[in-house]
Amino acid sequence: MMMRVRQDGDEPLKVVLLGSGTVGTQVARLILEHGDDFAARIGRPLELIGIAVRDLSRQRPGLPAGLFTDDPQGLIDRGEADIVIELIGGIDPARQLILSAIEHGASVVTANKALLAAHGEEIFDAAELAGVDVYYEAAVAGAIPIIRPLRESLVGDSIRHVMGIVNGTTNYILDKMTTEQTDYEAALVQAQDLGYAEADPTADVEGYDAAAKAALLASLAFHTRVNGDEVHTEGITRIVQDDIRAARDVGCVVKLVAIAKQLDDDQISVRVHPTLIPLGHPLAAVGGAYNAIFVEADAAGRLMFLGPGAGGAPTASAVTGDLVTVARNRARGVAGPNQTIYNELRVADMGAVQTRYFLRLRVVDEPGVLATIAAILAHHKISVQTVLQTPADSSGVRDGASAELSLMTHMATESDLLACLSELKANPKVRSEVRFLRVEGM
Ligand SMILES: NC(=O)c1ccc[n+]([C@@H]2O[C@H](COP(=O)([O-])OP(=O)(O)OC[C@H]3O[C@@H](n4cnc5c(N)ncnc54)[C@H](OP(=O)(O)O)[C@@H]3O)[C@@H](O)[C@H]2O)c1
Repeated sequence: MMMRVRQDGDEPLKVVLLGSGTVGTQVARLILEHGDDFAARIGRPLELIGIAVRDLSRQRPGLPAGLFTDDPQGLIDRGEADIVIELIGGIDPARQLILSAIEHGASVVTANKALLAAHGEEIFDAAELAGVDVYYEAAVAGAIPIIRPLRESLVGDSIRHVMGIVNGTTNYILDKMTTEQTDYEAALVQAQDLGYAEADPTADVEGYDAAAKAALLASLAFHTRVNGDEVHTEGITRIVQDDIRAARDVGCVVKLVAIAKQLDDDQISVRVHPTLIPLGHPLAAVGGAYNAIFVEADAAGRLMFLGPGAGGAPTASAVTGDLVTVARNRARGVAGPNQTIYNELRVADMGAVQTRYFLRLRVVDEPGVLATIAAILAHHKISVQTVLQTPADSSGVRDGASAELSLMTHMATESDLLACLSELKANPKVRSEVRFLRVEGM
């Protein structure tokens, strides 16, 4: 429903910017440098009336010193802003600042996936009540348009599956491990040196950042509320060079993938974990710090969105895209489409999720062992598609005592797989932990 909001003729629309870090600085620059173009596109000029930061003593070259304050709440409580752009990040004080902005009748643009994945319902409900916009294109996959395509372009279709590489840091690390045979730790240090990974990389490498984005994508795709804490989340810290090598031997690469999939009329699966992707799949070719999102819809078929998923300027492009859209809405006295949440779908337990698995284990190298392993799998309703047997020693030297088995399974449920792993672990023919990775895109 389009709602009427305040209209003030041809007066400038007043913009407040909260945060002037990696993204905020680029947003301020674009607003100041492209004022005439933005005014022509919106039909009204924009006026940046204040920028809130934490540390006023820091030099901010190229930005007018008179705009800065270290009192974001005071800036909002002036009640002058038509649009508040939140680029502070995190939960507090961003949550309270956004809610205050909405209470004052301002529309909001944010890139804050952590906040929306945890408190989206509260924020979107407040915006609906106030008749203002909350836009967040930059919250998922930086410069790549994916929120608007899901919310608007594909709103007449039925989305069945969204699968994406939505964290550039982990994609960079896995790509280095794949193309240069680098170990995880060395690849992480390289990512930090290049500014792709934070000094504390936990949110990226443990998958939390991707999980917040998966929650936002699933909510939009399936018109249901998914919170970040409902997303099954595994990061990449346990991936070792042998996993990458074994994946390559079966024609796959390892990627950290966010998956939102419809299982039936009542359930969806939303998860983030390292995943084997066949080399022929479009996501397999996404290298470096790039992001890509693959969408399958009934009528549209398969779509792929690809581009830079982070960085100051790319992310600022998505933020200013939202700024112009929200400003156009205000200039016309309307609010744009909110989230359309009308389903109450359950996020399925991982145990119920069905996928293929890639198993890797070391077994006693003697006749009949393969049959023993296959029988244990069959006992748990898991059938094997392919088996690869290699000497366990990666130098290629056969030690005579054990061999490495790599097995690609057909579809199986996670609960069956876990029961099978317990039985394999207890079997005396198995001489190592059983490593497993889920497989998608086959
Ligand atoms: N960086 C990316 O590539 C990227 C990509 C997609 C989305 N995002 C999202 O964009 C948002 C901003 O990220 P960023 O990388 O630009 O962060 P950042 O570089 O850390 O900048 C944060 C800004 O917020 C200010 N700030 C922090 N706490 C504050 C407080 N209590 N009061 C007032 N100002 C405060 C900081 O002030 P000081 O300058 O004084 O420290 C800084 O200007 C986050 O939600 C992030 O998840 C970032």
